Amino acid sequence: MSLTAIFKSNGPSGFGYGSTAEQATEGISLAGKNILVTGCSSGLGKETLRVLVKRGARVIGTARTVEKAREACAEAGPNTIGYACELSEPASVRACVEAVKKEGIKLDAIICNAGIMALPKLELKFGYEMQFFTNHMGHFILVTGLMDRLNDNGRVVMLSSDAHRMAPAGGVDLDNLKGEKQYKPWAAYGQSKFANLLFAKELAIRLPKGKTANAVHPGVIQTNLGRHMPLGARLVFGLVGPLFLKSIPQGAATQCYAAVNPAAALNSGKYFADCNVTDPRKDAENMPLAGQLWDASEKIAASLK
Ligand SMILES: NC(=O)c1ccc[n+]([C@@H]2O[C@H](COP(=O)([O-])OP(=O)(O)OC[C@H]3O[C@@H](n4cnc5c(N)ncnc54)[C@H](OP(=O)(O)O)[C@@H]3O)[C@@H](O)[C@H]2O)c1
Repeated sequence: MSLTAIFKSNGPSGFGYGSTAEQATEGISLAGKNILVTGCSSGLGKETLRVLVKRGARVIGTARTVEKAREACAEAGPNTIGYACELSEPASVRACVEAVKKEGIKLDAIICNAGIMALPKLELKFGYEMQFFTNHMGHFILVTGLMDRLNDNGRVVMLSSDAHRMAPAGGVDLDNLKGEKQYKPWAAYGQSKFANLLFAKELAIRLPKGKTANAVHPGVIQTNLGRHMPLGARLVFGLVGPLFLKSIPQGAATQCYAAVNPAAALNSGKYFADCNVTDPRKDAENMPLAGQLWDASEKIAASLK
């Protein structure tokens, strides 16, 4: 256990910094439940897949390729389905939506976990900044495509990050979605995670009563997410990480808690960290911006048909 976990106490939910995904779902039977997890091939997504299957859920695990998805699913157990869902390719995301529909699956939760972080140079996909496009647009197309597949009490969980605080002033600059004004790796990552947060908040308003949408910060965990960080930073992270950072089982706790713990069911439009509701950056409550982001995302998605 890291030093941080030893010194931090649990919050009102009874869980906290040191809780693992297994602890946050202890005693909960997910038999008969269907849960979709994006980015199931690595890090937090892989652990989320493992724990939800352990609790009895059928998990639809998605990854960039069907091979990666099936490999991760096979490792987790037989009650799994692996689909390709390359988030930066709308055709792949839409094919995933169609596969879920064709299989007749009704979903109890969608955990939008996949993501990329801090690409050193501006990369564009269909003309849009890659992190915004992958982390936000890919999940926007997926979730809006699957909204009618959500069960009456279905939950959507968006992996945001405390790095949403690094987003530019205002949160999401709708006039810089192509990096046309400027590009800073962490600000762009922060903007994409701010967009995940605003999307959860807007979705919470648009979903019918009973269905919920929340955003989560999983903590800081050493995973493949850091692959674009400089080697020196990765080495330091590797050395001090076990002392101060969350482990992967701890990192997967908040998304599992928000997706399946009955105590989390009443929350919608909220931001969770360490399995408890917390406050995001003040301007993440900017609902007019959340509405504008939704409209802009719809337009972008429609232009890529
Ligand atoms: N780790 C942290 O400290 C931390 C902190 C705050 C928030 N988060 C968030 O937590 C989530 C999970 O991150 P992680 O730490 O588990 O990272 P990870 O180990 O790198 O896992 C990310 C997953 O997303 C997948 N992915 C990346 N780009 C994709 C794309 N274009 N299409 C489909 N799948 C894609 C990856 O697949 P490949 O392996 O094939 O690329 C991988 O399965 C991310 O949304 C991240 O922003 C993490």
